[in-house]
Amino acid sequence: MNNVTVVTSGKGGVGKSTVTFGLGLVLSKLGKRVLLIDGDAEIGCLDHMLGISEHKVFDISDVVSGTAEPSKAVYTCAFEPNLFLLPAPSAEEDIINPEIMKQLVSIFARFYDYVFIDSPAGVGRSFESASAAAGKALIVATPDPVSVHGANRAHKRLSAAGGCQQRLIINRFSSSAFRNEGYYGDLDSVIDDAGVRLIAVVPEDPALASATVNAVCPAQRSPGMLAIERLAARLLGRQVPLPPLRNF
Ligand SMILES: Nc1ncnc2c1ncn2[C@@H]1O[C@H](COP(=O)(O)OP(=O)(O)OP(=O)(O)O)[C@@H](O)[C@H]1O
Ligand SMILES: [Mg+2]
Repeated sequence: MNNVTVVTSGKGGVGKSTVTFGLGLVLSKLGKRVLLIDGDAEIGCLDHMLGISEHKVFDISDVVSGTAEPSKAVYTCAFEPNLFLLPAPSAEEDIINPEIMKQLVSIFARFYDYVFIDSPAGVGRSFESASAAAGKALIVATPDPVSVHGANRAHKRLSAAGGCQQRLIINRFSSSAFRNEGYYGDLDSVIDDAGVRLIAVVPEDPALASATVNAVCPAQRSPGMLAIERLAARLLGRQVPLPPLRNF
C-alpha cells in the first residue's frame, strides 16, 4: 500500500516515535487526513504525545479480537483535528500477526491520505508485524555507528521481505557533536554504512523533545519541526534541498 509507511530503526531510542508524531502533525496541518498506528506493544507512547492517553479505552488488539469496532479504537489528537491514532496493544502477547496486520491496515488505509506505523525497536516479531502492510519505510538513525548499524540491519530485513521503498532519516544531528565525536568524516559515510538513500536530516531539538513529553503541539518554527516540514514536502513529491549542515 503506497500511502502506508513504516517508521523503523533497528536500534531503539533514536527518535522513531518523535519523527512519526512530527510528520503526522505537519501533514495533517497541510489538510491531509493522517492515521498513526502505534506498533510498540506495551510501551507505545504516541497516545501520550497526541494527548489522548487519559481517555484511551481500546487499541488495535481490540479491533482484531472484535471487542471494538474499528472506529471506536481510533482517537483524534487533542490539538490537531486531522491527526488520528490507533493505539498499540497493551500486552506483548497481543502483537498482531503480520497477515492480519496487512488486512487490517489495508482497510484503514482507504479512509486516510497517509498512514504511518511506528515500529518498535529491533527487527523481531513486532517489526515484522509493523512492516508487513507498508509500501514504504522511513529508517531512522542517529549519526553514530551503533545506530547506523541497526539501520542497515533493518534495511536488509526489509529488502529480504520484498523490498518496499526505503529512505533514511538522520535524527538528532548536531554539527558540533558530529565533528567532535569523530565517528564519521562526513554525512556520506553515514549514508554509505546505512545503505539507504537519505531523505532528511533532523537536528537535535530540545523544543521538539519537550513538546512530546508535555503532550502539546510543538512550535512550528523549531529547527526539528522545520526539518520535518521539509521531509513532509519531499514525501509529497517536492524537491527541497538540504540546508547547510553547519546550521544544525
Ligand atoms: N530531534 C530530536 N531532538 C531532541 N531530542 C530528540 C529528538 N528526537 C528524539 N528525541 C528524544 O530522544 C528520545 C527517544 O525518542 P523516541 O521515543 O522518539 O525514540 P524511539 O526510536 O521511538 O524509541 P523506541 O525505540 O523506544 O520506540 C526521547 O527522549 C525524545 O524526546
Ligand atoms: Mg518509539
